[in-house]
Amino acid sequence: MTLERRFQNVDDFARAARRYLPRIFADYIDGGAFSERTLRRNRDDFDAYALRQQVLTPLPDHADLSVTVAGRRSRLPFGPGPVGFQGLYRRNGDIAIAQAAADAQIPFVLSTFSINGLGTIKQATGTAPDFQLYLDQDPEVNAAYLASCKAHGVERIFLTVDTAITSVRERDVRNGFRSIDRMTPGLMWQFAQRPAWSLDLLRGGFPQVELVRGRPEFGRGAMAQAGNLSRRLDKFLTWDTVAQLRQDWPGQLFIKGIADPDTAARAADAGADGIVLSNHGGRQLDHGQSTVALIPEIRQALGPSAALCVDSGFRRGSDIIKALALGADFVLMGRPFAWAVAAGGQAAVAHLIALLETELRITLNLMGLSSVDDLRRAGTDVLRPQSR
Ligand SMILES: Cc1cc2nc3c(=O)[nH]c(=O)nc-3n(C[C@H](O)[C@H](O)[C@H](O)COP(=O)(O)O)c2cc1C
Repeated sequence: MTLERRFQNVDDFARAARRYLPRIFADYIDGGAFSERTLRRNRDDFDAYALRQQVLTPLPDHADLSVTVAGRRSRLPFGPGPVGFQGLYRRNGDIAIAQAAADAQIPFVLSTFSINGLGTIKQATGTAPDFQLYLDQDPEVNAAYLASCKAHGVERIFLTVDTAITSVRERDVRNGFRSIDRMTPGLMWQFAQRPAWSLDLLRGGFPQVELVRGRPEFGRGAMAQAGNLSRRLDKFLTWDTVAQLRQDWPGQLFIKGIADPDTAARAADAGADGIVLSNHGGRQLDHGQSTVALIPEIRQALGPSAALCVDSGFRRGSDIIKALALGADFVLMGRPFAWAVAAGGQAAVAHLIALLETELRITLNLMGLSSVDDLRRAGTDVLRPQSR
């Protein structure tokens, strides 16, 4: 069956990814913190809004879906957010997503925990991606990260601030995700049950995190490096850290992982060019609010000049439309891109982008709107409260 018929929506990619990946990785991608209440809320709260239908309005042939975020144009109002270890879900997964994003003329954010590094991505796609920064306990390591960003011409850094405290994802604890630094019989059994994944990935030897390759303190092999990278995250992130980074980094600075209006206002005061309203896809604070419910308050707190990106739970074109109507500038998506790359590499990622684009276009047109700019101007006028 062709890719176009197999995959009609994000759920189709999620199911295919679970069939393709060893359980330890499928669960790592899908899971949320503790009871996974925030994870579910992120999805459920989109249903609080209905879209206004409008017909008999003249529309152009092709809706303009482009947006400008902190001075930079993107052809579509969504893109892949930073997700660690994409190159473990499929060989060269980071490159596959970066290339599909470049082809679609949308931005790509490379995680600190990526298998392929900045240099490899830049060489493959011809452009430097944005970089998501996890600060390490060791200032020398952080200085090396920033130097690498400068050397590769990175324009925008996303400083992630919601993981200084490590939450518990019960699926990962059950699978021993964090403690794996060598092959165990259980892991070998899981890999044996997924021969296509094993053949694809292990052909070139077990992957490593390029950014810390050659740094013995991080260990060898992606699983050991994953554990060490997480353990070594800076546990004492404060506004002073943000101020210091603002001084050290001359490019654009976005702060990722804000889900509270006061913090958003403070981020703007601290000189951030933008924020990502995010609860890390329900992977950190359980029983927190969904991000879609927070957009109006956060927009107001942030003021009109700083950019407002949002993520956590976005799966449909209609979800993106609701966020933009509520005041967001751009939507990032995590798991959908991880599922797509696992399910079918670059072609599947390109197909995911195309599916979302089509859904956006049709939905906007059925709402009588001809562009995302129109939608942004109309704002909440195009939304109706909807009891669930
Ligand atoms: C498997 C996985 C790995 C992630 N790794 C990172 C990371 O390295 N850095 C980061 O800032 N966020 C990371 N995130 C969070 C995402 O950037 C994003 O906030 C979240 O996935 C959004 O929710 P969604 O998956 O429902 O779209 C990760 C998320 C997942 C699911």
